[in-house]
Amino acid sequence: MLSLINTKYQGEWCMVKTSLVSGFYKLSPKERLAFVKEFAGLSDEECASLRNTGSLPLDLADRMIENVVGATPVPLGVAVNFQINKRDYLIPMAIEEPSVVAAASYAAKMVREGGGFHTSSTPPIMIGQIQAVGIKDPYAARMRVIQAKEEILKKANDQDPVLLSVGGGAKDLTAKVINTTQGPMLITELHVDCRDVMGANAVNTMAEAVTPIIERITGGRVYLRIISNLATKRLARAWCIVPKEVVGGEQVVDGIVNAYAFAAADPYRAATHNKGILNGIIAVIIATCNDHRAIEAGAHAYAARNGHYTALSTWEKNENGDLVGSVELPMAVGLIGGAVRTHPIAKIAIKILGVKTANEFAEVLAAVGLAQNLGALRALAHEGIQRGHMSLHARNIAVAAGATDELIDFVAEKMVEEHKIRMDRAKELIEQYKASGKL
Ligand code: MEV
Repeated sequence: MLSLINTKYQGEWCMVKTSLVSGFYKLSPKERLAFVKEFAGLSDEECASLRNTGSLPLDLADRMIENVVGATPVPLGVAVNFQINKRDYLIPMAIEEPSVVAAASYAAKMVREGGGFHTSSTPPIMIGQIQAVGIKDPYAARMRVIQAKEEILKKANDQDPVLLSVGGGAKDLTAKVINTTQGPMLITELHVDCRDVMGANAVNTMAEAVTPIIERITGGRVYLRIISNLATKRLARAWCIVPKEVVGGEQVVDGIVNAYAFAAADPYRAATHNKGILNGIIAVIIATCNDHRAIEAGAHAYAARNGHYTALSTWEKNENGDLVGSVELPMAVGLIGGAVRTHPIAKIAIKILGVKTANEFAEVLAAVGLAQNLGALRALAHEGIQRGHMSLHARNIAVAAGATDELIDFVAEKMVEEHKIRMDRAKELIEQYKASGKL
């Protein structure tokens, strides 16, 4: 298979690249890589890097997604000091951003001084939506759907006897008429207890299975049948108290409370505030091969549930002047199914976490998000975020500029000292070091 084809351009024959490939998916990863190598002009060394899939065997990767040519490693760190509901946890985090793991560990240590994190969660209920259109009497149809609840739930539950046998399954149903640019639509929502699975497969299968009943009852036409990532019935919560002297004194407490007020009032700040919470949560989600897009979509939609986008966490000062934080957000995570049980590192990450149920996992994630938020706000309200960020950032720049071994620390430290963390300066320092004969 060739990525270069001979084609006529302005009367002349010439070779051009083409990304139009039929049957690419049928090739082996090795064959696909050969095509990509030619198309992108990859070197043998670059191809070898792609082929080196580490702990994820290539054939397993090839079964996980389509058109696989390799795998990409991300650093896996472990955040320490977490105490959640009086139990100690180690938190595996996969992330490319410096300072996140350190900040989570530091914040967890502060929270520990105040008794650790406390958490709770709702049952693991996901919502499956069924869109019916072209209904003559949508409001009356809504009544008929609600009346047929038992029949619809039975049909849904027939699809997943395993989920049913562990206490899960479709538990309830609601229906709403929405007005759209295409006229009124009847949206039926299945409420499915997903127990320890994330639930997308189970819920989507159920939603598809009940389609004939919905069409029969409403006289309309069903189009979409799909899980909602705005998982308002699958919430995880965490809260904590940080003694004022531990967090850095009264001024820092006030700074954090003011930072929260800023995020609560201003969506531009709220987006960054929530990104800080998700820094922690998503790193754990990636380490455990859960669906981080689902968590992110749910978190941001939940942050806007009252019609304006706001902060997912709150920070207040209690009667002793101590800092009190809390967070609540949708947390659709699973311990069974998908890549969680097949990816070798995901399995190890779950073992490190030591969580036994998806609910426990969701609560740990909420605590990690709150810790991450605290770490960021404390740094922002106290010394500014850059100090902590800069030394790791400087090391990355030093490596990118070509420093190795002890030269990395030399270049990084010098750049931080000079407040000049730039590629050109890193290169100059490397040259100076070499010229001084130290290498
Ligand atoms: C950076 O990844 C995250 C922060 O911007 C979060 C925040 O501002 O709260 C530091």
